[in-house]
Amino acid sequence: MTSHKEQTSMETQSPAPSGKLISQTIAMPRETNANGDIFGGWLLSQMDLAGAILAGRIARGRVATVAISSMSFLNPVPVGAVVGCYAQTLSVGTSSIRILIEAWIDNASGDMQSDLDPVDGQFAEQVKVTEGEFVFVAIDDHGNTRQVPTA
Ligand SMILES: CC(C)(COP(=O)(O)OP(=O)(O)OC[C@H]1O[C@@H](n2cnc3c(N)ncnc32)[C@H](O)[C@@H]1OP(=O)(O)O)[C@@H](O)C(=O)NCCC(=O)NCCS
Repeated sequence: MTSHKEQTSMETQSPAPSGKLISQTIAMPRETNANGDIFGGWLLSQMDLAGAILAGRIARGRVATVAISSMSFLNPVPVGAVVGCYAQTLSVGTSSIRILIEAWIDNASGDMQSDLDPVDGQFAEQVKVTEGEFVFVAIDDHGNTRQVPTA
């Protein structure tokens, strides 16, 4: 069985983000915790928003977050970091959509100009900072569950 430490280290060593880049934002000073790093709740909300965007596309309409089945904070996020949220669909049920969401930051410790791809704006090296599995449910205008469209 894999220990928690081994699992975390494996997650940290992922070479590249899984899924599609859904959102990008800059971590601002107002989002810091007592250590001066970015507050975990803010990161969680960025991931929730990114998941809701993807789930809303799949459900073609309104969705609500019903569960966060797992959540790992892998590395601290410094103020000013560019945070990208990547999402991939794990499964679609009758009304639910399970999505893996990862947040990555650009590793801007090197020469920022040479590391930046001028075409897609991504840095050559990124660091995974969080990973979580979110479950969204397709809902109607009254907040009741509805079926996820199949075609
Ligand atoms: C979302 C909501 C309408 C679902 O209602 P519900 O009565 O729990 O619905 P159901 O029990 O029929 O479950 C709906 C689906 O979610 C899944 N689900 C429900 N709770 C779950 C959980 N804790 N973990 C994983 N899946 C879950 C069910 O398996 C089901 O999937 P399926 O339709 O694909 O088979 C209701 O729970 C709700 O309004 N919750 C508050 C949502 C909210 O405010 N979110 C925060 C802001 S977006």
